[in-house]
Amino acid sequence: MISIRNLSKTYGDAEGGHRALDDVTLDIGRGDIFGILGSSGAGKSTLVRCINLLETPTSGTISIDGVDVTGYAGRDLARLRGSVGMIFQNFSLFQQRTVLRNVTFPLELVGMPKPERDRRALELLDVVGLSGLSERYPSQLSGGQQQRVAIARALANRAKIMLCDEATSALDTKTTVSILELLRKINREMGVTIVIITHALTVAESVCNRIAVIDGGRIVEQGTTEELFANPQSQALRELIENSRQVHGRAFPAPDQEGC
Ligand SMILES: Nc1ncnc2c1ncn2[C@@H]1O[C@H](COP(=O)(O)OP(=O)(O)OP(=O)(O)O)[C@@H](O)[C@H]1O
Ligand SMILES: [Mg+2]
Repeated sequence: MISIRNLSKTYGDAEGGHRALDDVTLDIGRGDIFGILGSSGAGKSTLVRCINLLETPTSGTISIDGVDVTGYAGRDLARLRGSVGMIFQNFSLFQQRTVLRNVTFPLELVGMPKPERDRRALELLDVVGLSGLSERYPSQLSGGQQQRVAIARALANRAKIMLCDEATSALDTKTTVSILELLRKINREMGVTIVIITHALTVAESVCNRIAVIDGGRIVEQGTTEELFANPQSQALRELIENSRQVHGRAFPAPDQEGC
């Protein structure tokens, strides 16, 4: 569904610049919950931001459902952004808008009439378990509730892909588990392909069916979650496992033992 071919991204000019992605080739299948693991600065956010063209690749291609989107601009780009939702660690909600108006925002952008967009937003708030909170402001919600609003907003334009950049990193363990459960439900019931960036091995292990490990801008290992954790090949993954063991006393603490 998402085919990334020979993707490179250099920030700054070619000579003095920093090569954040180096010849990345990766396939993410329809219906996957795909994990991107790697240490800080490895290039995870850059990779994911290239998928919806929040970053412009320096070279290489990104195709979605067989269509090369790399050069998209204008209306095509707007349509792409609608079909690829994104959520972040800090939720990125509009503080001056109510919950309902946060979710209707992308629908306003595409000119959907008010009654229809309100109806769609209320439906989505029901899906994410926030019925009854539509007139609150973000500051009146918990972190987990705010992330649920962000998820509803990301899905508003009937997104088929959802990108999650450390979406649970600011949440406590119990809330993390409930957000991961919601992502699983959205994947299962709405057929949304989900890409999850995380530095928490427990998050990757508990929800992802496939994982790629990135190090220094290169994919150093990829495979099913079971394969990777049973037999890690790359130095990068071994280090992540070792770090997790040092922090938690063992390699893969249960989700209730790690602040993800
Ligand atoms: N806008 C930018 N301008 C210049 N360099 C950047 C920019 N964004 C990221 N970088 C650099 O590119 C590299 C990859 O950054 P990226 O944000 O993709 O890493 P990451 O794996 O998401 O890290 P973290 O886990 O800390 O979020 C880093 O060395 C970073 O300093
Ligand atoms: Mg990042």
